[in-house]
Amino acid sequence: MTEPTYSVAVIGAGRPRGKEGATGFGMSHAHAKGYAATGHCKLVAVADLVEPNARAFADEHGDDDTQVFADFREMLRKTRPDIVSICTWPGLHADMVVASAEAGARAIHCEKPMAPTWGEARRMAEAAANAGAQLTFNHQRRFEAPYRTARRLAREGAIGDLVQVQLSCGDMFDWGTHWFDMLLYYVGEEPATWVIGQVDRSTTRSVFGVEMETQGLAHVGFASGVRGLVTTGDYLHDGPARTDGTQPRREALGAMQRLIGTTGVIEVGVRGTYNERVRILNGDSAGWHEAETIGAGHFEEAIAAGIADLVACIGSGHEPELSVNKAIRSTELIFATYESSRRRARIDLPLASVDGNPLHDMIAGH
Ligand SMILES: NC(=O)c1ccc[n+]([C@@H]2O[C@H](COP(=O)([O-])OP(=O)(O)OC[C@H]3O[C@@H](n4cnc5c(N)ncnc54)[C@H](O)[C@@H]3O)[C@@H](O)[C@H]2O)c1
Repeated sequence: MTEPTYSVAVIGAGRPRGKEGATGFGMSHAHAKGYAATGHCKLVAVADLVEPNARAFADEHGDDDTQVFADFREMLRKTRPDIVSICTWPGLHADMVVASAEAGARAIHCEKPMAPTWGEARRMAEAAANAGAQLTFNHQRRFEAPYRTARRLAREGAIGDLVQVQLSCGDMFDWGTHWFDMLLYYVGEEPATWVIGQVDRSTTRSVFGVEMETQGLAHVGFASGVRGLVTTGDYLHDGPARTDGTQPRREALGAMQRLIGTTGVIEVGVRGTYNERVRILNGDSAGWHEAETIGAGHFEEAIAAGIADLVACIGSGHEPELSVNKAIRSTELIFATYESSRRRARIDLPLASVDGNPLHDMIAGH
């Protein structure tokens, strides 16, 4: 039996980072490579408000039949794609996901973070469920070698029973969505039961058009007794000053993870070598030793692995690794942290009585 070929449409072409006209990372290009690598997908259309971005994307990843649109709704109506990849900024995700589900897409793969508000995140999940569409979010670190290795070691008992996971990064929302997702990945997808958090907003900060905290922390509880601790801050400002005018890589200055068990510790992203090393301290050796990492070696490989998985899951009844069910739980932790800070109270989950973004409410003085 021959494998099906799916038609793919992309919303938000962007430009690869560093290229003229780039406004971000141009994530769509990594998505396109991922679909091409499956051998079961054909790029039929791309929509971007900036026509040269869409044209350049179609020239690079499509063929003579690939259609270019300025209006994504017109594209959905005219091409009725099997799969839609959404690579725009977070404030646009909800309307695009909902429109794709309503246009009959079988699978929708959207960039992270889900959305700037908790209500929009839930609206996307509901729209996909109502339409029977498979919805995924690009938390591609689930496929990256260091994190896969850390989880495997922890699950094999290399540090005894997991007690606490500590994660640090720039912010709760843009990067934090990955770290909350990793926390749930490490605890075996156990739903969190409560969050207590605090944020500081002493400077104006936004990423991809969404206002976020200057610094913060979230303590997350699980029924199993495991605890998560996420600390955030713009490490660029905390880093050593440079005299040549360049900025230090934020992640090199402190984005890391530590898994603490009853008999040992695993660290991912040892200071200064983020994303490259996993080291372990336990009774098997006299000091730290480095673990061999197995999995996708870099960003694009991991994105392609996520896409291969979600394509294979279409119509199979299997839950994709990047499923909306997982994304909604990590997203809940972001908004629960903000709500905890706003209310000065522990938030028991599921997160009720929040529809917007509690940090934005605080910024607005509510
Ligand atoms: N998974 C990751 O690790 C990762 C890394 C970086 C960025 N991201 C996420 O990817 C998303 C996209 O970021 P990016 O850096 O690729 O953005 P980008 O700025 O490179 O590209 C966005 C494109 O969307 C287009 N666009 C804007 N409004 C549109 C509309 N109404 N219709 C069609 N096109 C429209 C813009 O013209 C632009 O070409 C963000 O949510 C970001 O957080 C994820």
